[in-house]
Amino acid sequence: MTLARSSFGAFPRRPAGSAAASRLLVAGAFALASCGGGDGTNPLDNAATVANPAGTTNGQKLSFAYFQRCVMPILRAQLPININGAMSVNSCASGGCHDNTTGTGGALRLVGSAADVNLATAAASAAVVRQTDMYRNFYSSQGETLIGAPLASRLLNKPLVRTVLHGGGLVFADENDANAKIIRYWITRPMPAGQDEFSAAAANLFTPADVTTGVCNTD
Ligand code: HEM
Repeated sequence: MTLARSSFGAFPRRPAGSAAASRLLVAGAFALASCGGGDGTNPLDNAATVANPAGTTNGQKLSFAYFQRCVMPILRAQLPININGAMSVNSCASGGCHDNTTGTGGALRLVGSAADVNLATAAASAAVVRQTDMYRNFYSSQGETLIGAPLASRLLNKPLVRTVLHGGGLVFADENDANAKIIRYWITRPMPAGQDEFSAAAANLFTPADVTTGVCNTD
């Protein structure tokens, strides 16, 4: 568009509001400049790369034996549940909660009726155990932990309502709850690096040191 000079030699008057619009544009450019980019120089730059440090547990696994004998009984137990002050009794693995078929409990999926695996028999090879419902419960629960880091593990933080909300309400009154201590003990004692979830080192998590007859150690 060419601007024709008016008879008064002046440029035609700018429509009302255009001054405000250009002031807004200048202000916007300044605001954009002040928000900065990845390294703070160019506002249109990509955001800085999010840090995602490598895990500290070298791919270690938690103990299947301790899960089956000490953690799964908690996930099956009828526990007092506090949802916004309304008390009820329910189990984590129940229908509507974390049951694998009828649960609404997100990624934690449990088969409450899973049979215990007799680890003392030769038939209980890793390949065979990994086909069982109990192993599915182990795998899903381990997936809700950051191995070695109980404070960052949803399996504890959700039922404690610690830094997160929980659709199932408050299940463990606080971290001194006996059940919370067992889950914490499991998360903080992974099997040695290079060994799998069936490692014989799990015997040390029981007293006497026997995964079949020993009593579950706890914090
Ligand atoms: C010891 C018992 C329990 C544990 C360890 C537990 C743990 C968890 C975890 C880890 C999540 C997050 C799953 C995800 O990553 O998506 C979760 C979510 C959920 N849980 Fe539970 N839960 C327990 C009991 C219950 C009970 C009894 C109910 C039902 C009354 C329940 C209902 C839910 C629901 C609806 C969600 C999805 C919404 C959310 O993310 O908060 N939970 N729970």
